[in-house]
Amino acid sequence: MFEIEQFCADCRQAMKETDQERAVRDVVTRAVADPAALMRDIGEPDRAGVFTLHRSDDLTVLNLIWGPEMTLLPHDHRMWAVIGIYTGREENTFYRRSEEDGLTKLGLKIMDAKDCSYLGETAIHKVYNPLTKLTGGLHVYGGDFFGTPRSEWDPESFEEMAYDVDKNVGLFELSNKRMEELKRGAAD
Ligand SMILES: [Fe+2]
Repeated sequence: MFEIEQFCADCRQAMKETDQERAVRDVVTRAVADPAALMRDIGEPDRAGVFTLHRSDDLTVLNLIWGPEMTLLPHDHRMWAVIGIYTGREENTFYRRSEEDGLTKLGLKIMDAKDCSYLGETAIHKVYNPLTKLTGGLHVYGGDFFGTPRSEWDPESFEEMAYDVDKNVGLFELSNKRMEELKRGAAD
């Protein structure tokens, strides 16, 4: 059974381990190993959104639900992150900073339900939900996700910009509007 307070306590314990990367990933892997049990606690996704399950100075836990075919610009977090998918699919394109080009592409990682990834403090990724349905994941960050300034990059020019939390949260609402319009269109 998943329980958010216990999950946060387990994450905090894992953060003290020598191999923090493996320890935190193990905690999140366990949480998404049984998607049905997880969804009994946090609910089944019915709309795109950034739903905060826990927020403190050293730990943020988000139930992040991507809308159909939704994408986010390349961005960094300035803190470690663990992503565990419990329904749908998430495509991550990883980059690193580059003197000449702004960003250099490192590779692609496709995550399905029950998959879990650890991202180090300097990781930069672009996220895409390739499905025409919602994708849900637990996103765990080793800090205050909303209160930490970070960067995002133009997807074409790779020009670095300040990450705009409000703009990015707005993209989820835009996705919900689109879904409603499509549903209305199908009903007509
Ligand atoms: Fe991210």
